[in-house]
Amino acid sequence: MSGVYPSNLHGYDVKTNKSRYHNARLRVQDAQKSKSDDVGTAKIESSPPTNKKLISILVVMTVVTWGLATTAYFGVVDYKAILNLGSRDTEPVVESKAETDQVVEADKPKVEAPKTSTKSDSGEKAAKDPGEVTKKKKPKTLSDEDKRILSEIKIGEKLLQQKKGEKAWKFFKDLTKTNPDCPKAKYLEGKAAEMTASQQRSNPMIGLAIEAFSTAVQMKNCPKELKKLSLTAKSENEGFLGRMKPALETQRTLARLYPKDVSILNKLGVRFLMLGKNSAAKKVYQEVLRLAPNDGFALVHMGFIVKQEGSWEEAIPLLKKGTDSNEPGTQEGKFYFHLGDALHRTNRTAEAKAVYEQGAERGLFRSKYQRSLYNVERLTGKPFWTPEEAGVKEYVRRLESNWKSIRDEALSVMDMEKGLFLLEEESLKDTGEWRQFTLFARGHRDENNCRRVPKTCSIIERMPNARGCRRGQVKFSVMMPGTHVWPHTGPTNCRLRMHLGLVIPRTGSGARLACAGEMRTWTEGKVLIFDDSFEHEVWQEAESFRLILIVDIWHPELTEQEKKTLTSI
Ligand code: LMR
Ligand code: MN
Repeated sequence: MSGVYPSNLHGYDVKTNKSRYHNARLRVQDAQKSKSDDVGTAKIESSPPTNKKLISILVVMTVVTWGLATTAYFGVVDYKAILNLGSRDTEPVVESKAETDQVVEADKPKVEAPKTSTKSDSGEKAAKDPGEVTKKKKPKTLSDEDKRILSEIKIGEKLLQQKKGEKAWKFFKDLTKTNPDCPKAKYLEGKAAEMTASQQRSNPMIGLAIEAFSTAVQMKNCPKELKKLSLTAKSENEGFLGRMKPALETQRTLARLYPKDVSILNKLGVRFLMLGKNSAAKKVYQEVLRLAPNDGFALVHMGFIVKQEGSWEEAIPLLKKGTDSNEPGTQEGKFYFHLGDALHRTNRTAEAKAVYEQGAERGLFRSKYQRSLYNVERLTGKPFWTPEEAGVKEYVRRLESNWKSIRDEALSVMDMEKGLFLLEEESLKDTGEWRQFTLFARGHRDENNCRRVPKTCSIIERMPNARGCRRGQVKFSVMMPGTHVWPHTGPTNCRLRMHLGLVIPRTGSGARLACAGEMRTWTEGKVLIFDDSFEHEVWQEAESFRLILIVDIWHPELTEQEKKTLTSI
């Protein structure tokens, strides 16, 4: 459900880098199994380095799910323990040598990467002299040793101002070689490497920047403010490279230095969330809200965590107050998404609708119904599609003419080993029982499962737009009577969803699906196509099970290049 993007790059050759970026990204993504059927298992992107150039090339940062399996945290009991547990006072060992992928993505969610409150550490403020006009003393970043070479430092800074990244980097590298005890110069060497990295799109250069920041921090004469700058830059760059654990450790070191700095703590919370350590993140946000009860960033994140825990009522005021604050980092689709969802699930449907409308007005959703967050903007969006429109007439013909063998294979798996059908785990279900048996996910064939239903898999195998749909799945889906699935939204507008009816009961009130408010039902042996990035809801009110085959396909307007390069979901 999440993606981190390390790669192992040497040299600056862009072409080489690109393919390495790509492969490494896929490797890591594969290691992190996706279950994303819906945005409900929302994703977050890590904070990018502050370097605007890097942001401007639309580098996709680590994409992490905040959903399931995130509660297991290593026995943290209190906030202080979170800061200190397992941590070193100095720099963490970089646990992976792998470097990251910087993926230029077309469909980065519109929302910006999390920004945190910029409120500063109340504990660090200089005491005010009431009679005086407040003149903030600039915190010291120069050590005595740096002051000795100030004129040279200034020359290097000038190069940085002129955006001469590589020249500045070489300058500072030489300067720190002859003056190895000057933390400010070392820090600036890091900044110059960071600039060079963005100008040359070089990950190894980011690695060098991290090393320089790390060295600066470790120097005995490093002023506290410079430590703060260096650690901040280090953590951001580590996060950028997908080195999430070191990034967390660095942020923790920062939080130990500035335990009351709301901005630092807010980022620490995000770092925990990105590693799925929700309960640790929760403790951090509790602390932030103790220090600053109205901090919007902390409120939305606390609301998000509480919502994931299933406490809808409790999540609502947090998400609401947080999004209403309009503070940086609060205007993200996922917060509106979860606020609306929590409202809906607690019967406040009118308010939920208003939140979705507001989200759409603010450009966080494509529309009040189409609330996917990983979108290619130009793609046509509408709830239902004909096979012609979806460009899959031939696929539909093959599925429909083979529907009985497909059904029989599904039934044989269901009959013999019901345990193979796994329970839906994304908290989409309100009541009843809903199970799935996955054949392909994110473009990968599940060999074990395909062995049990070989005909179905061989049919899919000959459908490149389904087989290769890295933003979707192919799966059998069985729903028991009495099942209601909450209205929900898929994560991306890059796929369309085919449903082949296999066993469709007609008793009771039957089984039906609404997409964007429009009701449909299934027919045995027939394919229904809808766009699951639009809100949809399912009711199973028959007296026996309903069984379908779900086949996701690439949106017909995507180019071949996009199909190859879009990240998996
Ligand atoms: C969905 O795609 O969310 C559902 O419609 C699946 C199902 O089994 O009905
Ligand atoms: Mn769905």
